[in-house]
Amino acid sequence: MKRKLFIFIGLLLLLAGCKSPSTNQPSSKPVEHGNMHSEDSMGMDHENMEGMQGHMDHDDIPPLQASKGIKELTIPPLLEKKQDADYDYEVVAQEGITEFFEDGATKTYGYNGDLLGPTMRLKKGETVKVKVRNELKEPTTFHWHGLEVPGSEDGGPSKVIQPGETKMVTLKADQPAATLWYHPHPHELTAKQVFKGLAGMLYVTDTDEDATALPHTYGVDDIPLIFQDRLFDGEQLNYDGLMNNDGTIGDISIVNGTMNPKLTITQPIMRFRILNGANARNYTFRLSNAGTFTQIASDGGLLSEPIETEEITLSPSERAEILIDFSKMDPHEPIAITDEAGNALLPFEWKIDESTEKLDAAAWTDNTPFLSEEEKSLPVSKEIELFGMMDKVTINGKKFDPNRIDFRQEKGVSEVWEIYNKPDMMGGMIHPFHIHGTQFKIISRDGKEPEPHERGWKDSVLIEPDERVKLLVTFPEEGIYMYHCHILEHEDNGMMGQVEVY
Ligand code: C2O
Ligand code: CU
Ligand code: CU
Repeated sequence: MKRKLFIFIGLLLLLAGCKSPSTNQPSSKPVEHGNMHSEDSMGMDHENMEGMQGHMDHDDIPPLQASKGIKELTIPPLLEKKQDADYDYEVVAQEGITEFFEDGATKTYGYNGDLLGPTMRLKKGETVKVKVRNELKEPTTFHWHGLEVPGSEDGGPSKVIQPGETKMVTLKADQPAATLWYHPHPHELTAKQVFKGLAGMLYVTDTDEDATALPHTYGVDDIPLIFQDRLFDGEQLNYDGLMNNDGTIGDISIVNGTMNPKLTITQPIMRFRILNGANARNYTFRLSNAGTFTQIASDGGLLSEPIETEEITLSPSERAEILIDFSKMDPHEPIAITDEAGNALLPFEWKIDESTEKLDAAAWTDNTPFLSEEEKSLPVSKEIELFGMMDKVTINGKKFDPNRIDFRQEKGVSEVWEIYNKPDMMGGMIHPFHIHGTQFKIISRDGKEPEPHERGWKDSVLIEPDERVKLLVTFPEEGIYMYHCHILEHEDNGMMGQVEVY
């Protein structure tokens, strides 16, 4: 406590010394603040520290236990298309039982099963009808994270499906091939439902993929990896007892719902589609042999060019696709995907069939610059300020109100959103910022162009305390969309706003 107090006083002095940042830029369009904020209504001052017990600062985050490598990684089944029905797919949210531990059944939630959900693949350009059904004892919604569908189909908090109810949604995959995902979004219940197991992968696939050198055989050389951390109470995921207002962070790592996983590798070049599916934990992934791998895609599709790297950091809801070339590595050395502390989250077991022909590692360069000069020089027209911690989180000084539209934006017209993560007395914390119904481009971080691995389509972006990130946002469809912090407890605590696209 003493140490914290120290840091706190230090920050206080630091903040007092800072002049308030000026955010306005010359602009032809008036800058919208969504009725910006009465600074003190929700603000933290030092007399208002109650409610901070349980706040996670960096040192409080429990380390993950390394995988013992005992269970083969579960690969979620592919969602099969219905043949003789008037809809294409059916997704049911239901209760289940999962055997995480030898003696003891854990109560979980799943889609069409006990835990997590099947992988749904939409062909680029395809329109499908999905029958969604809620067999839980509480309301839920079905949100297609990253899919650019009209607000009516997007499954935000207003699209509640009551227990026992069934609805039909129409999804059109009118965007580049990408690794997206689906999860529930009922206001104030999202964090709990995801924690208990509701999440699944949603791919947009490209028929040209055969033409590229990218591995694309599901479950063989093209593997989904949903990374999550969980906290158990005995063998139960007792959310109400375990939840933390700053994001429920656990010490147990699960990958695709498998505890202590390992993955048997059969192909020399493997493609992994990594999702940070945690409620709040940020991950930095590395290889245990300090080897390099290739990042090929960000949230919304392929990067302008593949990036050779040693690590990838993903905040909640961000995705990355990577290729690992095992033929360059020593099969006698144990190799695993680790976290930043070096804990093996997914150890590999080698069964590489030497006779398989090695695909040429993917190489492409998109010669059109990721951002045009015109895009870079657009003025800011929407300002967003993220602030607070625990249950005191706000956007532009306000909490979510389903009856309030915070911003309006014209369909098909690009605007620059500037997101500022305003620090507080405690220094502030990282917030992963997400917008529904769009894949955006990062224009700059604190005025600097994004690193190569962020020069690609994004729908979620990690924002450091005191960082200012500019996004180029275009909505191809109409409707009301959420934007929010993807720490799910922050979202449930009202760190969310609405943009109406007309
Ligand atoms: Cu992952 Cu509002 O969504
Ligand atoms: Cu979303
Ligand atoms: Cu947050």
